[in-house]
Amino acid sequence: MNFEKETLKNREFLKAPWDKYEKDFENFKTDQEKGFQIPDFVKKPGNNSKLIDLITFEKFPVITKNINELIMSRKSRRVFTEEEISFEKFSVLLWITNGIKSIVKKDGENIRHFRTVPSGGSRHPFETYLYVNRVEFLEKGIYRYHPDINKIELIKSGDFEKEMTEAALDQHMAGKAAVTFIWSVLPYRTEWRYSVLSMKTILIDVGHVCQNLYIGCEALGLGTCAVAAYSQEKTDKLIEVDGENEFAVYMAPVGNIK
Ligand SMILES: Cc1cc2nc3c(=O)[nH]c(=O)nc-3n(C[C@H](O)[C@H](O)[C@H](O)COP(=O)(O)O)c2cc1C
Repeated sequence: MNFEKETLKNREFLKAPWDKYEKDFENFKTDQEKGFQIPDFVKKPGNNSKLIDLITFEKFPVITKNINELIMSRKSRRVFTEEEISFEKFSVLLWITNGIKSIVKKDGENIRHFRTVPSGGSRHPFETYLYVNRVEFLEKGIYRYHPDINKIELIKSGDFEKEMTEAALDQHMAGKAAVTFIWSVLPYRTEWRYSVLSMKTILIDVGHVCQNLYIGCEALGLGTCAVAAYSQEKTDKLIEVDGENEFAVYMAPVGNIK
């Protein structure tokens, strides 16, 4: 492979796509413009899954921290203590990173929703999976967050330290953390609206999600580190997604700071 050529080719992906296809798009319509059904904005829980209520936003502790100090102290933290993190802090972090603030309905149908992070076209194409290792009240396992009902769903219980570490290409912090956030994308949620123009937007979106995790952790006395170097296949297998219509895009271990 000619890596120089490949690098230049991949660089194109960083550029704004909006007027690139103008000529080809004279007769082009997105699925939204064709009147196709809007995709679900969250995944539904599986039949008979175990669902656990999270603490609601109204009951969260009031955190009063100086934003300048928060930003100044934010940094990537890779070493954590053996302590568990409280269920309250865990609930706050889920809400901060992808909580739903409001839903807009038209003719009884959900047409748009707003979350705690911005997203191109308000499409919010991500699901949050959690490798839970040491979180108060929770058994170890893989979970998924359901922001529409403020619950988490147990996908599978067990100790997945080895699988999580391998999925993170032997970055041990991912397996040793109290909890590791793994974000998957369902690209069609954005493609329904933006078609071939979606990909850059999706990756910018996920950066916002992780940045909220950094700031949330900093405010709660916890630490995190963004992780983009991971095994696609092993991570998708761990969170049980098909790797095509849904696949992992980013992860971040969280723990008490050493
Ligand atoms: C997109 C992205 C991917 C990253 N991937 C990794 C990673 O796989 N492993 C890691 O240890 N740090 C990773 N980091 C953390 C960076 O190394 C870190 O942000 C950088 O060194 C600057 O340090 P700071 O976050 O403390 O300011 C990543 C950060 C970003 C934004």
